[in-house]
Amino acid sequence: MKIGIYGGAFDPFHNGHLSMIRGSIKSKKVDRVIVIPTGMPCFKPARKVTLSPYRFYMVKAALKDEPKCEVCDIEQVFGEPSYTVTTLKNLRKQKVVSEKDELFFMCGSDILFEFESWHKPEEILKQASLLCALRPGIDEGQARNEAAHLEEKFGTKIRFFKIDGVEVASSKLRADGDMEESDDVSDVVKTFIADHDLYSEDSPLMNVSDEMYKTLMKHCFTLFHEMSGKRLLHSMNVCVTATRYAMRFGADPDKCALAGLLHDCAKELPEKQQIDLAAKIIHGYIPGKQILHSPAGAVYAKEHYGVEDQEVLDAIQFHTIGREIMTITDKIVYLADKIEPARHYDDLSEIRRLAESDLDGALIECYLAIQESFAAKGQVIHDDTKKSLAYLLAQREK
Ligand SMILES: [Fe+2]
Ligand SMILES: [Fe+2]
Repeated sequence: MKIGIYGGAFDPFHNGHLSMIRGSIKSKKVDRVIVIPTGMPCFKPARKVTLSPYRFYMVKAALKDEPKCEVCDIEQVFGEPSYTVTTLKNLRKQKVVSEKDELFFMCGSDILFEFESWHKPEEILKQASLLCALRPGIDEGQARNEAAHLEEKFGTKIRFFKIDGVEVASSKLRADGDMEESDDVSDVVKTFIADHDLYSEDSPLMNVSDEMYKTLMKHCFTLFHEMSGKRLLHSMNVCVTATRYAMRFGADPDKCALAGLLHDCAKELPEKQQIDLAAKIIHGYIPGKQILHSPAGAVYAKEHYGVEDQEVLDAIQFHTIGREIMTITDKIVYLADKIEPARHYDDLSEIRRLAESDLDGALIECYLAIQESFAAKGQVIHDDTKKSLAYLLAQREK
């Protein structure tokens, strides 16, 4: 089978990317396309690139119904950025493609002019041929001349295919900001961006320390392979929202970001494992299923993710029911979990409004909303939540 390999940061995924994929299939030069979002950024500081699971799942959403196309997670590993030649070799090694498959590395015509300076170009060409897109408006003659030069030098054959569509640059989209209005981004991608509050002006994660940013990235890659996409995206949203609140309310952004990212880290573990983990810090009773993952998560974060900071572990442990006297990190993670941007249940607007300026007020409102919804089902809230609510209300009266 002839397989097109299309890699990129896709930050964000836009219609120019889509026209590459569709154009290559339409040209019949390839039978299908494997799209590979990069994991570790190659040529930019890590903070300048959106965290990789966001980009990976954005591409997945964008291409969900695209025929003859799949999104591959081969680069979703922490460490050094992967060179093209390594990725191509890994595709065969990990049997994403078979030995018999013929690979075509898809690129724009601009790549031809820099290809010689890439890492091990001759080895890349042993793994794959170049398949070059010709966009309207580019100088085709120049591109073909450069291709002839490369063909001669490396003994390879370079194919071309035409694509329609205009030039779109991710960097310009990011700089312009409001992607909601852009014609260059599909509705699916727009929804994804809005749901996860991506490309927002204040970029809360810019406020965490370099060391913590690296830790968050590393954990994102581990979580990617340990939990479902939906839960990972939720966890990342809680991480970003908690960091935003940390800046707003004077808490430690590193602690809030870490606790936010890992707050549900045990939720998809088998129940028996969660019980065993929770039993290490809770003695005498086993919490119910909904609550179990919080103490289990605190232990798992310590044992599996190496978290030592007790304040972070506490925020994970108390994110479902709270406790009588909450630390600021507890409060922030609790609240961020309930109202991160992808949460759409009930009416969160009042809690979100309060969270703009009044942390305790937002938390009280949140507890009251939960109490009300429990009451509607004939249930009562957990004793610890009740105590926390009472304590906060008493504080307010002082
Ligand atoms: Fe949770
Ligand atoms: Fe959660």
